Amino acid sequence: MIINAPSLANVSLMEMGDTVRELIDAGVDFFHIDIMDGHYVPNLCFPASFVKDLKEKYPQVTAEVHMMVDHPEDYVRQMKEYGADWLSFHLDSTRFVCRTAKAIREEGMKAGVVLNPSQPVSQLAPAAGYVDYVIFMAVEPGFSGQRFMEGAMERLEQLCEFRREAGLDFKIVIDGGVDYVTAKKCVELGADILVTGIYMQFRQPDGIMGACERFRNTFGRPKPDGCRG
Ligand code: DX5
Ligand code: ZN
Repeated sequence: MIINAPSLANVSLMEMGDTVRELIDAGVDFFHIDIMDGHYVPNLCFPASFVKDLKEKYPQVTAEVHMMVDHPEDYVRQMKEYGADWLSFHLDSTRFVCRTAKAIREEGMKAGVVLNPSQPVSQLAPAAGYVDYVIFMAVEPGFSGQRFMEGAMERLEQLCEFRREAGLDFKIVIDGGVDYVTAKKCVELGADILVTGIYMQFRQPDGIMGACERFRNTFGRPKPDGCRG
């Protein structure tokens, strides 16, 4: 089953409550929450307490928190307290990748690392055994609404190949510029989770409800034959 993970980074704060409710009514139970500190990326997004607010109101959902921050190790405990279920950080945001991933797991969360478009897939190797998932950035991190980068499919193929050859089973999350065309291709290559900012909330002829339904109809079943997951 491919997971639909809407990103809320593009949603107006004036409409946030209604949008989250709409997504939940449309069957969404997994949220991708972007946290940006203005240092690791040149942008700011959501206070850490956003995770708490979401989980207090909707404890049934999975909060997958994507930290685009320097020193991610400083936030592990707090994120756990606020209710994060999955927690990820960028490979180059700390000198202590394995230690940070271990700390996340020790707090009972799923640990993830994030691979930027400028990083070779091989950079993941030393940490791969410590993580439950890898976020594959198809855009440079920091801003929502960007286009899926040229060359990203080839890199994704390398990542899927690496996972297969290493005999590992971490989940692959695709983040950035996922739309109808790129989504299908990513799933064929082996992606497990799609971050659907644009896909869910924008350019939708039939709104969030219709977009979620289309996602389920297209991906909401076991991976079809021929997928290299
Ligand atoms: C970019 C963020 C993404 C982004 C995805 O730095 O990590 O999660 O918001 O959304 P779209 O699909 O709008 O690019
Ligand atoms: Zn993200």
